[in-house]
Amino acid sequence: MSQRQLFVTTALPYANGNFHIGHIMEYIQADTWVRAQRMQGNAVNFVGADDAHGAPIMIAAEKAGKTPQQFVADIAAGRKQYLDGFHIAFDNWSNTDSPENHKLSQQIYRDLKAAGFIETRVIEQFFDPEKNMFLPDRFIKGECPRCHAKDQYGDNCEVCSSVYAPTDLINPFSALSGATPVLKSSEHFFFKLSDPRAVEFLTEWTQNGKHVQPEVAAKIKEWFGVRTNPDGSTSEGLDDWDISRDAPYFGIEIPDAPGKYFYVWLDAPVGYLASLKELLNQRGEDYDTYMANPDLEQYHFIGKDIITFHTLFWPAMLKFSGRKTPTKICVHGFMTVNNGEKMSKSRGTGLDPLKYLALKMNPEWLRYYLGAKLNGKNEDIDFNAEDFMLRVNADLIGKYVNIASRAAGFIAKRFDGKLGQVSEDGQALLAALREPHSAIVAAYEARDTARAAREIMALCDKVNSYVDANKPWELAKQEGMDARLQDVCSTCIEAFRLLTIYLKPMLPALAEQVEAFLKVEALQFADTGRLLGAGHAIGKYEHLMQRVVVEQLDALFEPPAAPVVEAVKPGGEEIAPTITIDDFAKIDLRIAKIVECKPVEGSTKLLQLTLDAGEGRMRNVFSGIASMYRPEQLQGKLTVLVANLAPRKMKFGISEGMVLAAGPGGEEIYLLSPDSGAKPGQRVK
Ligand code: 2FM
Ligand code: ZN
Repeated sequence: MSQRQLFVTTALPYANGNFHIGHIMEYIQADTWVRAQRMQGNAVNFVGADDAHGAPIMIAAEKAGKTPQQFVADIAAGRKQYLDGFHIAFDNWSNTDSPENHKLSQQIYRDLKAAGFIETRVIEQFFDPEKNMFLPDRFIKGECPRCHAKDQYGDNCEVCSSVYAPTDLINPFSALSGATPVLKSSEHFFFKLSDPRAVEFLTEWTQNGKHVQPEVAAKIKEWFGVRTNPDGSTSEGLDDWDISRDAPYFGIEIPDAPGKYFYVWLDAPVGYLASLKELLNQRGEDYDTYMANPDLEQYHFIGKDIITFHTLFWPAMLKFSGRKTPTKICVHGFMTVNNGEKMSKSRGTGLDPLKYLALKMNPEWLRYYLGAKLNGKNEDIDFNAEDFMLRVNADLIGKYVNIASRAAGFIAKRFDGKLGQVSEDGQALLAALREPHSAIVAAYEARDTARAAREIMALCDKVNSYVDANKPWELAKQEGMDARLQDVCSTCIEAFRLLTIYLKPMLPALAEQVEAFLKVEALQFADTGRLLGAGHAIGKYEHLMQRVVVEQLDALFEPPAAPVVEAVKPGGEEIAPTITIDDFAKIDLRIAKIVECKPVEGSTKLLQLTLDAGEGRMRNVFSGIASMYRPEQLQGKLTVLVANLAPRKMKFGISEGMVLAAGPGGEEIYLLSPDSGAKPGQRVK
């Protein structure tokens, strides 16, 4: 079979946030597909990029006090840890603000214009009277004109997926200022999708069964039908697409149209080509030659929320600018976490990919789990923690890794690491394992990794039944059974190698470990056609994979700890535990007059006070305020006395109470004094 040439992309993430688990799922799906292609000997260029443009990023950058370029670069710097962490091997990661993309987008626009597909029209658009700018679609919210879902964005509805103009929204408001937007006119550029040529092309392209999944084709068909517009009129076919935005805008300038920029969705998919071009340039290959190959296949992996852009606008842009159209748009559904609970960071129910990695959870557990759930259809899938643990432990550890661990030790210890002859029953087992090769490869091709996983696990079951039937651990104890032991264990190792080939697109790092253990070159699908054979020496077996433990999952889904609030310490001291008013009433505070004040001989800290608290007698109180007051300063002053404090015997005499002072001590002690007018003996309450 001749080598296929494939150009593969995933949707370009907006450069205004970190990856979430939905991104990672898409990348894992595409990466698995790409690896399966490469294992068949096909040549793949797999690229991604950050989607840098658009008003939301411009606004976010401004808020962050950065230029949009710097803002995007900072986000881009965070990408690698995710991609490396989950073994997602893009050949290039670019961004849509690259010089290549500026050039290509402008060229595609010029070509579309030359073909008669661009038109300008003065339109009325929402303008934020408080912010003094035209409002980007994403910053206008309101009710969906078609399904009446509330709080939808101005460009498309997340509930019914319809695409509309922001002016179609019911009860619109500015998400920037909350103001009700006003209509203001401006000249806009349109891509004429209503042109009969476009309608004819897209009807055929989307419905001929070649480029999109059947369930996606059915959805698209609805968009071509007769529709009732928000104003009650009806229309058929497609609406023209508004591709321009007015300054201020972070984007690519429209040629010969000062102050006008391409709407982000015009240049975003061009970013696929630009990232590819950048890659080929780096390698010294020619982009035009590469793209001119009629056999080149172009695959875009996307989520179901951006079908319109990829199945209508993008193929039409390519077609009518005289370029190659995509081979397939591979649409996946959304991912929910723990039984469809909506992902939410604050509630801690989401699956944070970085937290997953930080907890040292094996990325290939996730690759396998998602692979075992994705079936190539546009369907949502759920990540369920318990299901994840059971699935990974049962399949990968219990069924697959187990095979090697049951056989490898005997080969190493008893046969010097060498495989022996595989007798007839073993050959029959291996033949049964080689038989579904094409079906498994076809399942990968169809992105039906769920089917691939099922097939592979059924094969693992066969091998484990063989092990159970032959009991190598018993053979090992029996006299004269060495040859049979080597035979059985060699069969297991050969089987393990075949299973590893099948699993490799999902488990690339594990497969690499196995290759080292088996002492073989990087395994390809065609390698199922041969065996290691008698005499092949394998390496030392080291445990290949740990089980998922429940503590890891608990930690993964544990809601983020409440931020640790440093206890406030007014005046350097925490507020004491709460008391009741009754507790407070127990302390009898009285106004007292300092009738006399003397230094205490033998103490640098204490002053001796003679206090009149209106009791018809004087009290003797020692107070540690000598560092701050000279005796004569205090004589005659009023202060506050704790009158019911138990008398305390001190070195210098008995102290009958305590006067109140503030401050940490030393040079900072301030005796409390009541406002003027207070009389000795009055209670402080
Ligand atoms: O929906 C999104 O996240 C877009 N940034 C996807 C763009 S895909 C491609 F067209 F660039
Ligand atoms: Zn809707």
